[in-house]
Amino acid sequence: MKVGFIGTGSMGTVLIESFIRSGAIRPSAVVAANRSHEKAVRLAARYPGLTAAGSNGEVAAACDLVFLCVRPLSFKSVIDEIKPYITADQIVISITSPVLLKHLESALPCKVAKVIPSITNEVQSGAALCIYGERMNGEDRTSLERLLSPISKPIRVAESYTRVTSDISSCGPAFLAYFVQKLIDAAVQVAGMPREEATRLASETLLGTGKLLNEGGYTPESLRQRVAVPGGIIEAGLELMERELETTFVRLLQATHAKYDEDVEKIDQLFFGSIID
Ligand SMILES: NC(=O)c1ccc[n+]([C@@H]2O[C@H](COP(=O)([O-])OP(=O)(O)OC[C@H]3O[C@@H](n4cnc5c(N)ncnc54)[C@H](OP(=O)(O)O)[C@@H]3O)[C@@H](O)[C@H]2O)c1
Repeated sequence: MKVGFIGTGSMGTVLIESFIRSGAIRPSAVVAANRSHEKAVRLAARYPGLTAAGSNGEVAAACDLVFLCVRPLSFKSVIDEIKPYITADQIVISITSPVLLKHLESALPCKVAKVIPSITNEVQSGAALCIYGERMNGEDRTSLERLLSPISKPIRVAESYTRVTSDISSCGPAFLAYFVQKLIDAAVQVAGMPREEATRLASETLLGTGKLLNEGGYTPESLRQRVAVPGGIIEAGLELMERELETTFVRLLQATHAKYDEDVEKIDQLFFGSIID
């Protein structure tokens, strides 16, 4: 089986490298193209056997499975470019949330799916959200999840939950990293702690907390209760967070949803020429 990647920017590269490093795909089974060709050529140099294609059409013609790893507003032109090479039995996968299954199914004659990866897949961890079009049969779904398993936990989600699940899984690393960064900044500012030491300590804490939540049998709530003694220091900190952050996360998701709605509207216009309800 040949696997194609159109767009070898940040996420396209994460996927290609993670698949190859985990042994899920051999370099010789990968065909990749990028608008600025030298990015694909650099990948081919790093992974002998990988083909740096000269055009998106070449990827589409050569591969059974094609991951589209471009930004949302580039999808329409990429799909127009590859459509002449696509046949009914191929699978085309979008890795972006605001390009909907209806956009892909209306524009392509093949099986379509969305797989929303996460930067955490770089360390063979985290989820890959799987959203399937109707033309994907049970066997297609199982074989795609088998491919994703070495680098992620494939999780099937309904398309209506794409945004919120992506907020947790794909945006989550950035949100959590921001939180950690602020904790480090405060340690430097309040106590004069060396930044490097604070960073190492905070990173270890994040790793350990993740393990407790995944393997230690804790929920976020039970973990908080386990470490916060009534009237103690942690409780004093938690009380402040409760006051200051009470509405922050609701507003955070409202902000990402508003941007998503804007993007979906633009993509509707590109695919259908008008806004569709
Ligand atoms: N970043 C994440 O953590 C994450 C997670 C899940 C999903 N995603 C999704 O992944 C998609 C890509 O994000 P990214 O962060 O990887 O963006 P990126 O770094 O900007 O990569 C996009 C790549 O697409 C290439 N490209 C643009 N138009 C093209 C065309 N017509 N034909 C071939 N290649 C083309 C660009 O080439 P040039 O070098 O010429 O600019 C660039 O290398 C987005 O839709 C995003 O929603 C991202």
